[in-house]
Amino acid sequence: MIPAANPGAGYRALKGEIDTAVARALESGWYILGAEGKAFEQEFAAWLGAAHAVGCGNGTDALALALRGLGIGPGMAVATVSHTAVATVAAIEMAGAVPVLIDIDPLHYTMDPEELAEVLAHPPPGLPPIRAAIPVHLYGQAADMDPILAACRRHGVAVIEDCSQAHGATLGGRKLGTLGAVGTFSLYPTKNLGALGDGGVLATDDAELAARIAALRQYGWRTHYNSDEVGVNSRLDELQAAILRVKLLHLDAGNLRRQVIAAAYDGALAGTPIPPPARRSGATHVFHQYVVRVPDRDAVQARLRAGGIGTGIHYPAPVHRQPAYRDRVALGPAKCLASEAAAAEVLSLPVYPELTDDELSTVAGAISALR
Ligand SMILES: Cc1ncc(COP(=O)(O)O)c(C=O)c1O
Repeated sequence: MIPAANPGAGYRALKGEIDTAVARALESGWYILGAEGKAFEQEFAAWLGAAHAVGCGNGTDALALALRGLGIGPGMAVATVSHTAVATVAAIEMAGAVPVLIDIDPLHYTMDPEELAEVLAHPPPGLPPIRAAIPVHLYGQAADMDPILAACRRHGVAVIEDCSQAHGATLGGRKLGTLGAVGTFSLYPTKNLGALGDGGVLATDDAELAARIAALRQYGWRTHYNSDEVGVNSRLDELQAAILRVKLLHLDAGNLRRQVIAAAYDGALAGTPIPPPARRSGATHVFHQYVVRVPDRDAVQARLRAGGIGTGIHYPAPVHRQPAYRDRVALGPAKCLASEAAAAEVLSLPVYPELTDDELSTVAGAISALR
């Protein structure tokens, strides 16, 4: 079976380097917030082109810490999308704020900037003031940031980029995560930059914001054992940081391999009725997922499974349709109908750097036969 994701292959491909880094971290005798974490933060910030990076426990916490760092919490609303990992919306509520969900542009699966502008100009009644927006760069491709940033600037709304699926993707030549006030990244094992456990990192050019977030991730301490404000415990450990330093060195090559796989799938789909994923102009797509839309998804998934090919669905239900959020979460005027339509049809094909040429041919052959 060709799995839909294969983080174990990612470890095996770099086993020598990772084992050396793990041994170094273990031998150091220091396991939380030490030299490895500091070095990873510096190396990640330099790679991204941001002034500061702060490691944390996971990508959900990264979003919640970014909100809290910007002073966003109870009595405020935050706009994001419903077609995302539930984590994006969960983080808004973790920070104490109220989510309002905007629909997607169905071609690129990212926040519809016109609806966002409409909601900022005329917020739904009963909602507290909208103080932040979290566009999600879904599947490895940029949201339509120029109009999003412009609308947010007009209304004094902070922009946090959820880059959990877009490590290394660019827009207008700039890496995602450097366009808004803060960029947040999950380092979950299957991500383009994945730890071998949980991890997250935030990036910002604002030194004071970075210092506040670094304090919030550890009980609000700016100096040891002294909480300036109420914080949480969300730290990136030294083992994961040491592993991530190795993985960061291979991230650009891994993204290039994902793009080669994506181009091969594009070619394989050429003779079928299934269009390849749309690319945003001026953007580079790093294919965290290669997502096609198929109205008969169950049948297609079963056929591929019978051919030894695993697939994924990201995501089967938009957040506002899930039991914990249904009937209580605020929606924009488009009522997230395009998100509902996408959720019913999206299918993710296997894409990761360790997919072999033979496996790639098998998947390409199978999808070229779809009718
Ligand atoms: C778009 C998006 N946001 C946030 C997250 C949350 O990250 P984590 O699982 O590391 O908490 C994820 C990953 O699941 C994600 O894909």
